[in-house]
Amino acid sequence: MSRLILDSSQPLEPGSVLWRSPSNIALIKYWGKHGIQLPRNPSLSFTLAASCTDTQLSYELRKDPSDNHIELDFFFHEEENEAFRQKIEAYLTSLLPDMPFLKQLKLTIRSGNSFPHSAGIASSASAMSALALCLCSLEDRFFGTLQDAEAFDQKASILARLGSGSACRSIFPHAAVWGATQQVPGSSDEYAVPIGNQIHEMFKDFHDDILIVSSEEKSVSSRAGHALMEGNPYAEPRYAQARTRLAQLLDAMRTGDLPAFGKIVEDEALTLHALMMCSNPSYTLMRPESLAIIEKVRQYRADTGHQVYFTLDAGPNVHLLYPGELVVDVRKFIEDHLEEHCEGGHVQQDWVGEGPEEL
Ligand code: DP6
Repeated sequence: MSRLILDSSQPLEPGSVLWRSPSNIALIKYWGKHGIQLPRNPSLSFTLAASCTDTQLSYELRKDPSDNHIELDFFFHEEENEAFRQKIEAYLTSLLPDMPFLKQLKLTIRSGNSFPHSAGIASSASAMSALALCLCSLEDRFFGTLQDAEAFDQKASILARLGSGSACRSIFPHAAVWGATQQVPGSSDEYAVPIGNQIHEMFKDFHDDILIVSSEEKSVSSRAGHALMEGNPYAEPRYAQARTRLAQLLDAMRTGDLPAFGKIVEDEALTLHALMMCSNPSYTLMRPESLAIIEKVRQYRADTGHQVYFTLDAGPNVHLLYPGELVVDVRKFIEDHLEEHCEGGHVQQDWVGEGPEEL
């Protein structure tokens, strides 16, 4: 039984907490889940810097907390958003057994992204990690239960995972692994762990320029995509492959072996999309422009020897990954040859970041 109940005989000053949390880009993909948001294979991501969500969670004591439901107002970019509100209400309700104090409060969430909503960038990782961090700050403020920084981050990662699997990796600076693997001591299916201290310094100065091929809503959501893995004939070999690749990628990232890094990362991106194409029903999220960009990136690498690699999320946009020392050359390559394949010429520049911050 949770002890996290406020003493209602005591007054509680209204207050608020505010976190900025980044998105992340998976290098080894989480694709397939079971139980309560548990991954079928371990995944590894870079934590980004520029693509962030700011979330403010305000609270005051509820006048009538007797019923077992969450009282919530939700504003996205200053506008009330009923669809988001309902999703968050369902999420907070699911947390009540662990955080019963939430139903003693009237909550207001104000949230906004640093990137335009039309940019076609998935915001669930930044949004759910920012909210999870707010919830942990609240718990710690009321009950002092998360004083230890590691315990705080671990709980934030668990709560983020329950909102959206990939969000649990955004809690940590530079890079994180989610999912139990012998390769990373302390790793778990329930939360991500930081691996920034296990990777070559070069990867902390890495760029991820996101080429926006389309900003349209995906035809098949990630949630539906994960579910389709259950009937996919390649599911089991895929999960085994992800484990092998994670071990290989970690080796490459420890030693700073860029060609090995790039090969695994690109293979992972194409595997993710191949899995979608051989799902039942089959679907494709890549667009002709995504492929045109991929071809040009391969050619550019062959022509210049520059170590620039691509990855894809569950969508048509292409992420260009490259070390900081190449930034001038690669940005020129993008401008001259890749922007023409982007919707409205849109490119969201991002890079490996320091993780969330409380504002
Ligand atoms: C392709 O984390 O968005 O980006 O847990 O259902 O919210 P839910 O899915 P989500 O899936 C992300 C899938 C991916 C790969 C990854 O980020 O690892």
